[in-house]
Amino acid sequence: MPLVPMRLVLDHAAANNYGVAALNVNNMEQIQAIMEAARETDSPVIIQASRGARSYAQENYLRHLMLAAAELYPELPVVMHQDHGNSPSTCYSAIRNGFTSVMMDGSLLEDAKTPAPYEYNVKVSREVVQVAHALNVSVEGEVGCLGTVGQTKSDAPKVASTEPHDADLEQEPEPEMAHLTDPDEAERFVAETKVDALAVAIGTSHGAYKFTAQPTGEVLKMSLIEEIHRRLPNTHLVMHGSSSVPQELQDIINKNGGKIHQTWGVPVEEIQRGIKHGVRKINVDTDNRLAMTAAIREVFMKSPEKFDPRDYLKPAREAMKKICIARMVSFGQAGNASKMRAAKLF
Ligand code: G3H
Ligand code: 13P
Ligand code: ZN
Repeated sequence: MPLVPMRLVLDHAAANNYGVAALNVNNMEQIQAIMEAARETDSPVIIQASRGARSYAQENYLRHLMLAAAELYPELPVVMHQDHGNSPSTCYSAIRNGFTSVMMDGSLLEDAKTPAPYEYNVKVSREVVQVAHALNVSVEGEVGCLGTVGQTKSDAPKVASTEPHDADLEQEPEPEMAHLTDPDEAERFVAETKVDALAVAIGTSHGAYKFTAQPTGEVLKMSLIEEIHRRLPNTHLVMHGSSSVPQELQDIINKNGGKIHQTWGVPVEEIQRGIKHGVRKINVDTDNRLAMTAAIREVFMKSPEKFDPRDYLKPAREAMKKICIARMVSFGQAGNASKMRAAKLF
């Protein structure tokens, strides 16, 4: 079974009012965790790889792992998506390596840091759409930049580190600042580029440190999703930075020698509200990272004598599978792979 374009999955999700988790991978165990979760829940699958993941795993390994997934799970439609492509050439190299969907993130310049002018975003996104659509590859664009609402860099929480050299720990909680999506611009952008899906900035950010308390509508602007959906009822909306950062995983990590500063993520109920208003793709990476790390830390603390990587990678894979199942069920994609197959969509 070939990998399928993302448009096919998102069109079915829109027609049947559900959302699909887009899950990041870097290695074999993560791909296995997602595929097993999808088989158990009968879910269509979106697997995505960042530029960092592609360079970590190497193109050939990643391509063959994805082909193995498609071969081993012929009953499931699987999308292979480039997460946050920083330039047309990144998107084209993904397509050459078998990706069936790409994100051209022209909300930032090629350095993937500097907010880009609107005209630049339209130019690169439109160019990628023209090439990708000719090859039956889907395209996600983004308007607005992710980040935390209403904070300045100096307001950002800092870990009071007792270890003077722990520079990473002190830097990690600093959120980026948000440039929320302007609904007028979103409307123009979709008309001018013809992207298949649109990522919107509503106050979420990547990583574990999203909110310093349970988020309210002041910092997590779900109302903006509703406004954008009202104007673009036929556009598939995408929520990035959508990990929920479960307290339970923070606690397991901290109990087992880790140091996660107290933090809050995006509640699953808020994502479900988004799904009622046009959100079709929900990006989740951090929750799976936390789940794997919690499982590995537990093995290391409880059984320090173990040294066979399978002794900790197997529980890590199981822990990630559990998170994937939970998200697939709560986003509503569970039960839909067989419906897509019955409708002869793949
Ligand atoms: O875009 C954010 C994803 O979590 C991927 O992260 O760039 O560290 O692979 P990464
Ligand atoms: P999280 O860091 O919230 O998992 O977001 C991942 C993401 O948006 C990948 O593009
Ligand atoms: Zn993202």
